[in-house]
Amino acid sequence: MANKFDTIAIHAGQAFDPTTGAVIPPIYQTSTYVQESIGNLRGGYEYSRGGNPTRTVLESLLAALEGGKHGLSFASGLAAEDTILRAILKPGDHVVLGNDVYGGTHRLINQVHGAWGVLNTTVEMSDLTAVEAAIRPETKILWVETPSNPLMKISDIAALSEIAHRYGVIAIVDNTFASPALQHPLAFGADVVVHSTTKYLGGHSDVLGGALIINDDELHEKAKFLQFAAGPVSAPLDSWLTVRGIKTLSVRMERHCKNAQAIAEFLDGHPAIEHVYYPGLPGHPGHELAKKQMSGFGGMISIAFAGGAVAARQFAESMHLFQLAESLGGVESLVNYPSEMTHASVRGTELEVPDNIVRLSVGIEDVEDLIADLKGALPGA
Ligand SMILES: Cc1ncc(COP(=O)(O)O)c(C=O)c1O
Repeated sequence: MANKFDTIAIHAGQAFDPTTGAVIPPIYQTSTYVQESIGNLRGGYEYSRGGNPTRTVLESLLAALEGGKHGLSFASGLAAEDTILRAILKPGDHVVLGNDVYGGTHRLINQVHGAWGVLNTTVEMSDLTAVEAAIRPETKILWVETPSNPLMKISDIAALSEIAHRYGVIAIVDNTFASPALQHPLAFGADVVVHSTTKYLGGHSDVLGGALIINDDELHEKAKFLQFAAGPVSAPLDSWLTVRGIKTLSVRMERHCKNAQAIAEFLDGHPAIEHVYYPGLPGHPGHELAKKQMSGFGGMISIAFAGGAVAARQFAESMHLFQLAESLGGVESLVNYPSEMTHASVRGTELEVPDNIVRLSVGIEDVEDLIADLKGALPGA
């Protein structure tokens, strides 16, 4: 019988070390491998840019977590994104992407790939008619981020994948915000899953990494070739830290979801707050869809302040447990001011984040302490 997710997260891709019996696969901190004779490799490894046993453990684990065939691990989420874009696109090709994807994703597609002649259109992903209308003969990729960063929009993975496939377009889903503990895009028809493993998969804000999970053998071979040829690989220690983080992914996500739900409900309706963006609130436009395609609503909340930028900035700078920092998905709570921090690169574009928005990455601390921290920072405290 196939193992269930919580068991996969702890065991997939891993066996005890046959030499020492060590329960945990070691950090193979080596760049190269001694050969039996020229070209006759002892364990299948030649040079660590091409492969490293600690990375192999992580890559097998990532594939198993997403229910996919192949996993590839990278030095960062953007390195993973860049690799899949280059594996698919050539100058003149076109990408359709959501109008509130992570700012760095837009920067990569628009500025870096754009400079080589790749075209893009940003659309509202919840408007399926608009998505279909944006697809052109040159469109090769439909890039979906759900929940999105920072506005927590929920996109219909099954419907979007179906539209993409009707036009011969590859559907890529950035599953960073949900993590595979809450959402499996491949099961809804997506072709490729992307992660910033820096976030919930690593889970402790101590490692940078990215992942691709791909079912198609040919596309996997292309991405793997680029991983080897260009070298944006995850290092042995980083791979090991990510594997360690993943072991507690399920229990962490349960607490992230529980704390975030309580905090969203506490914030919703507060006179200083114009709007709370959290898919776990029944009034969220993606609430029903999130219930269908996710097994929990996640740990990320965005808040729009009635008092504009001044109120938002003051709040972001006034908390103690919620530390003012970029990134998300760690065990500790963080607060971010997207328009000048994570999403500064999209200022002046249609992806610009309003300056009254603050984003919370809700950690797994005691929720009463977190709510006390929020209360102390809200106007009127
Ligand atoms: C949704 C999402 N995708 C991708 C990335 C990029 O990942 P990394 O920072 O690991 O390169 C981020 C980073 O914040 C993100 O939030």
